[in-house]
Amino acid sequence: MLFKRGNMRKKIIAANWKMNKDINETSDFISAFNTEMKDIDCPIEVVVCPPFTALYVAAKNLQESQVRLGAQNLHFEDDGAFTGEVSARMLQSLGVAYVIVGHSERRQYFGETDEVVAKKVKKALSSNLKVILCAGETLSERDGGVTEKVLERQVKAALGGLTAQDMANLVIAYEPIWAIGTGRNATPQQAEEAHAFIRSVVAEMFDRDVAAALTIQYGGSVKPDNAAQLLSQPDVDGALVGGASLKADSFAKIVKSCPFGKTA
Ligand code: PGA
Repeated sequence: MLFKRGNMRKKIIAANWKMNKDINETSDFISAFNTEMKDIDCPIEVVVCPPFTALYVAAKNLQESQVRLGAQNLHFEDDGAFTGEVSARMLQSLGVAYVIVGHSERRQYFGETDEVVAKKVKKALSSNLKVILCAGETLSERDGGVTEKVLERQVKAALGGLTAQDMANLVIAYEPIWAIGTGRNATPQQAEEAHAFIRSVVAEMFDRDVAAALTIQYGGSVKPDNAAQLLSQPDVDGALVGGASLKADSFAKIVKSCPFGKTA
């Protein structure tokens, strides 16, 4: 299926810090990163997703910055007896713009099902938070030749019932689980194939325009030395970066390696 080249799509590079950094480390990172970002001349949106406990300090430190704030999770209920959980409204009140939903670590370690992921996506979007929806296959699924089946199931479950308008506030991150934190990134070709496939699923669910406008990030061992190659694939519109986003200079190198050009 042919789509218009992705030059018009929004490019997004996001840092997923996972369970790392206290408030002091967060402030230190942001002041170093703000300095690094001063000379960046690339039309990409940069998002930093600290843990919940550091969101407030991150928001304060990012006030003068173009860098957007993201959270790593949310609950799908508005409020109530859900010990340990955080609602969309709480995130909004902190100035959070994006929220990661359905990360494989949430699915794997915290039992998040496709159904829970779908509820979180809907709650985030109806609360004016932009969603970074994660999808990806395990190594045994890839080896078993069911990568596309898994991606299709995850994407269809998470996006069912959304409108084209909702889709304008949603980004998909393709994150093959075997590449996360392993140092073994997908090849640019593997990433491109998966992204093009996800785009075709979205075209089938919505239409070609929605699919063509959808930002699809790649995540899984993105590093300063492999980012440019991955990001130069036609359907790769950004990156979701874990380990290599924990140091300001390394994350800045990834942002600076963006091949998207000044008018993308
Ligand atoms: P990684 O993590 O860059 O450390 O592989 C990516 C992610 O889990 O989002």
